[in-house]
Amino acid sequence: MKSIVLEGKSLCKTFTNGEVSANVIRNLDVEVYQGDFTVIMGTSGAGKSTLLYLLSGIDDITSGEMYLNEKRIDNLKENKMIDIRRNQIGFVFQEPNLIDDFSVYENIIITGYLGTKNRKEVHRNTDELLEKIDMIEHKNKYPSQLSGGQKQRVAIARSLINNPNIVFADEPTGALNAKQSKQALDLLSNINGSGQTILMVTHDLKAACRGNRILYIKDGKIDGELNLDQFMVDSLEEREKYIFDFIMSKGW
Ligand SMILES: Nc1ncnc2c1ncn2[C@@H]1O[C@H](COP(=O)(O)OP(=O)(O)OP(=O)(O)O)[C@@H](O)[C@H]1O
Ligand SMILES: [Mg+2]
Repeated sequence: MKSIVLEGKSLCKTFTNGEVSANVIRNLDVEVYQGDFTVIMGTSGAGKSTLLYLLSGIDDITSGEMYLNEKRIDNLKENKMIDIRRNQIGFVFQEPNLIDDFSVYENIIITGYLGTKNRKEVHRNTDELLEKIDMIEHKNKYPSQLSGGQKQRVAIARSLINNPNIVFADEPTGALNAKQSKQALDLLSNINGSGQTILMVTHDLKAACRGNRILYIKDGKIDGELNLDQFMVDSLEEREKYIFDFIMSKGW
């Protein structure tokens, strides 16, 4: 039995704008398992990004309960929540959002300094991550000197610097070309292979097939899931076919 890293119970998110309010996430229940590479799919506007922001603590739920490693987190004070965001979660966005005035090395280090690890450990982890993303020889370059794919690899490394319990990624390949996407996905597969739990939103079958569990979201609720482990297939093309059939059956 896999343990549950993150759990949302009866999650609701309502956006209110003047007199208009929209219920974007509606009584949604979700569990994320340790070591899984979970993928969230669904049509545009279904609430995928909103859900990721809630689960990662970037945005607040309107109602419901959230648990990280069985500890309730939705009712914590802001400074405790900041601590969790800095130390226990990593986030990769569609755009790398690196700091232009900082080198590759500094971009990763600065996020490490915000966590609770000592500086020696942060420096050691940064060197290891630079090796892992194959960027050690570019460590003193600035973001403007990197390709889009290299920047996104740095963003992935940055999300890992504090050894998070879970890495969230919202369309991490959305702004990349095919070759750059493959490199970023290989990296995500690789870190998941080392045991890192990942929760990723994507529209892209080539990205989705790196996951082992696909959740389909529709009208702010989970409308079914596909467990790829049951098929015992390794080829990415075959995995894509299973996912394609699944999302088509859901009305994608
Ligand atoms: N801050 C906000 N204020 C008001 N409405 C919002 C806000 N953020 C999102 N929404 C609305 O919530 C709905 C879901 O948005 P969300 O960004 O979660 O969709 P998504 O599934 O990620 O879509 P996409 O695939 O296009 O990224 C949309 O109708 C959107 O307009
Ligand atoms: Mg989105």
